[in-house]
Amino acid sequence: MNTVLVLFGGKSSEYEVSLNSAYSVIKNIPKDKYNILMTGITKDGRWLFYEDDIELIPCDKWQSGKCSRAVLSTDFGDKSVIVFENGSCKKIPVDICFPVLHGKNGEDGTIQGLFELAGIPFVGCGVLSSAMCMDKAVTNTIADCNRIAQAKWLSLNFSEYGENKEAFADKCVKELGLPVFIKPANAGSSVGISKAKTKEDILKAMETAFREDSKIVAEEAVDGREVECAVIGNDYPIASVIGEILPSNEFYDYEAKYISNESTLCIPADIPREKSDEIRNIALKAYKTMGCKGLSRVDFFIRNSDGAVLFNEINTMPGFTSISMHSKLFEASGIPYGELVDRLITLGLEK
Ligand SMILES: Nc1ncnc2c1ncn2[C@@H]1O[C@H](COP(=O)(O)OP(=O)(O)O)[C@@H](O)[C@H]1O
Ligand SMILES: [Mg+2]
Repeated sequence: MNTVLVLFGGKSSEYEVSLNSAYSVIKNIPKDKYNILMTGITKDGRWLFYEDDIELIPCDKWQSGKCSRAVLSTDFGDKSVIVFENGSCKKIPVDICFPVLHGKNGEDGTIQGLFELAGIPFVGCGVLSSAMCMDKAVTNTIADCNRIAQAKWLSLNFSEYGENKEAFADKCVKELGLPVFIKPANAGSSVGISKAKTKEDILKAMETAFREDSKIVAEEAVDGREVECAVIGNDYPIASVIGEILPSNEFYDYEAKYISNESTLCIPADIPREKSDEIRNIALKAYKTMGCKGLSRVDFFIRNSDGAVLFNEINTMPGFTSISMHSKLFEASGIPYGELVDRLITLGLEK
């Protein structure tokens, strides 16, 4: 039996999202096929080996359970998690890591680099594809280079912000029109994103976005439907049916994603067959172009005015509870959640 180390939490604005995803993953890993080990990463980045009730995870009470300090050994020969307990330490072998972590330090290539150093296989995308998909300016650049249609966009570094605030806001209005979306280049779950309707809004939105990252992206607002396609696989990926999001707010912000419970996922999306085939093909192209492995969710807009499919982003560790879009899309495509989790671990071991 292979031993899977599930990592949850993380030093990221999406810590809470991860707790829910990880809970679902742990609950649904086929127990007859895998031994499960768990390690939580606190919001300030401390690693704690967790040996208690999984019910304490989603409500964020896990730190009151049995926890011991732990590190992943970077010694290529160890392939183990090292757990410190009562003044001594023990080495526990790990066959594969499953980083159920979203956003910074989890989905951005950093922890994937640690797994590479440690010589331990892992679920999901590698260092480069994780890092590229995390950074919206890099993603957009690569999409442009590969003729993947998307909204018009601009980016700005914090080092240029002070002197060029006004000029950048003017440039947004001139080149992208109004409204525009202002986003941190590296964040996730809509954290730090605003829809700006005036130049004044843009200036405020820039401040908000720069609180999350030292680079921001501005994008023309697409007036259209928001659709997503889940993909799994390594060299021969497969795409799910298409799902549509009907956000409860003006756009799919953090509140609409995780708090209000009023956003609706429509699976499969009510769109013509040819349109969904087109989207699936672009999703597979984007997935391969970015070098994704394991899983990702590729997000798009269908523009109202002309039906054009515009790529938005790739999430390399999308929300992954049993009722998240990625899981639901594969369930509707004939792969139930437990089997999906099993397949992802197998893909990680094969990589
Ligand atoms: N260019 C855009 N046009 C229209 N809506 C957008 C645009 N960019 C983002 N949005 C809205 O903001 C949400 C979050 O933006 P997104 O780029 O997906 O960031 P995140 O990585 O935080 O999910 C999207 O789901 C969508 O509702
Ligand atoms: Mg998104």
